[in-house]
Amino acid sequence: MKIKGSTNIVGLIGHPVEHSFSPPMHNAAFKLLDMNYAYVAFDVNPNNLNEAIAGAQALNVKGFNVTIPHKVEVMQYLDELDEVAELIGAVNTIDFKNLKGYNTDGIGAVKAIEEVTSIKNKNVVVAGAGGASRAISFYIAKYGAESLTILNRNEAKAQNLAGDISDSALIDEVKSGSISAIDGYVRNADILIDTTPVGMHPHSNDDPIVDAGVMDEDLVVFDAVYNPNETALLKEAIKANAKPVYGIKMLLYQGAESFKIWTGVDAPVDVMENALKDTLNIE
Ligand code: ATR
Repeated sequence: MKIKGSTNIVGLIGHPVEHSFSPPMHNAAFKLLDMNYAYVAFDVNPNNLNEAIAGAQALNVKGFNVTIPHKVEVMQYLDELDEVAELIGAVNTIDFKNLKGYNTDGIGAVKAIEEVTSIKNKNVVVAGAGGASRAISFYIAKYGAESLTILNRNEAKAQNLAGDISDSALIDEVKSGSISAIDGYVRNADILIDTTPVGMHPHSNDDPIVDAGVMDEDLVVFDAVYNPNETALLKEAIKANAKPVYGIKMLLYQGAESFKIWTGVDAPVDVMENALKDTLNIE
């Protein structure tokens, strides 16, 4: 891919950004499709966020991904918000065509799960009630789940999130509870989503939130943790002959959705997945 006078720039803003997997993933896609785009990462100090958005617009940048710590703050500088991004209250993708913000993190998780099973009419349990849970849970509701149960260590946080989702009217049945009671909920679930950092490097030997004995063969188990690739929870799912969905797939599909928003072109997910695996050192 040659950088030319006409090359379109897309990129990432965050603080820090140097370990991002997004540049290799998107640039591999542009190269494969011979598209005249380049993806770069910009480390933007929180004090300069307004100027970064205005500057990018002035420089005719086509799109941004947005990561920590800018996902919430950036919303005030945009002209439009996707409906679900507004409900979530966080943005990870900007399209400069109309200065519109989207949240493809939640879509990424949904697409990852939908490689294995449709969300529609399923009973879904989500562990955790932080930022990742919020993005994913709204999209689980939007994609037609029958019921959504949010479980958290701090039960009040789960209750608040469940209340927000209930208010959105995207789904009829939203419950919340304590993560300590997760086994009973999982026995009645079709899909389990773990958004907690339990099992994340360097704590990969932590006890998983659910053991194989609680899982049946039809259960789909998604772990948002991607380092290690196969977490203790996914190992339990494999042991139970249940259906594991790896965290890397969420990274892949959030990127694929952003790519489509900026370029209008369907993302070449295979080459993007290989680039991700190379970056993350996954076999
Ligand atoms: P993220 O943006 O990744 O969602 P976050 O907003 O800090 O990160 O949320 C982390 C979530 O994981 C929270 O729901 C947190 O539970 P609390 O609200 O009770 O703190 C949950 N979490 C973190 N460590 C956990 C642990 N060891 N066991 C269970 N839940 C945990």
